[in-house]
Amino acid sequence: MATKKASKLVTNSPDETEQIAQIIAKNLKGGEVFELVGDLGSGKTTFVRGLAKGLGSSDSVASPSFTLSHKYDTGSLTIYHFDFYRLNQPGVVALELADILNDPRNVTLIEWGDIVHGILPEERLAVKFSQTGDTVRELEFNYFPDSDYLMKGL
Ligand SMILES: Nc1ncnc2c1ncn2[C@@H]1O[C@H](COP(=O)(O)OP(=O)(O)OP(=O)(O)O)[C@@H](O)[C@H]1O
Ligand SMILES: [Mg+2]
Repeated sequence: MATKKASKLVTNSPDETEQIAQIIAKNLKGGEVFELVGDLGSGKTTFVRGLAKGLGSSDSVASPSFTLSHKYDTGSLTIYHFDFYRLNQPGVVALELADILNDPRNVTLIEWGDIVHGILPEERLAVKFSQTGDTVRELEFNYFPDSDYLMKGL
C-alpha cells in the first residue's frame, strides 16, 4: 500500500486559514473527503468557510454542531459539512453520510468524525489543527500520493 504523505503549514489569522482552504478548493474535482481533526476553536469550521468561498459559494458557513450537517451549493460541486461533536451513536446519520460519500459530485468535510471512522474512505485527506498561539494555528495535512493534486499552489 502507498505510504501517506504529510505537510505542515502555519497560519497567523483566520483569514490566512481561509486562504489556504481557498487554494485547495481550486484543486477539487469532486468526491474528496476531508477529516478535520483538532480541539474546540482550533479552526476547522474556518477552514470549511474558506473552502466554500473558494468554490464560489455565497452561503454563510457556520458550525453545524446542533444540526449535525450543513450543505452549501456551489456552481459545480455540493459541499457537505458535518460536525459529530454531539452525536452519541452513528445510526441513521451514518447511513445518510455513506450515501453522500458515494456521490462524486460532493465534497465532504467532517469535524469530530471518530464516531463514523468505520465508513470513511481510507483515501481521505486528514487535516490536523493545533492552536500554537492566540491567532496562530498549525495545519498538518496527511494524505495519500493520489491526492497530491489537492496541495497544488500551497
Ligand atoms: N489562524 C487562525 N485560523 C483559524 N481560526 C483562528 C485563527 N486565529 C484565530 N482564530 C479564531 O479561532 C476560532 C476558530 O473557530 P472555529 O469555529 O473555526 O473552530 P473549530 O475547530 O471548528 O471548533 P469546534 O470544534 O468548536 O467546531 C475563531 O474564533 C477564529 O476567529
Ligand atoms: Mg467547528
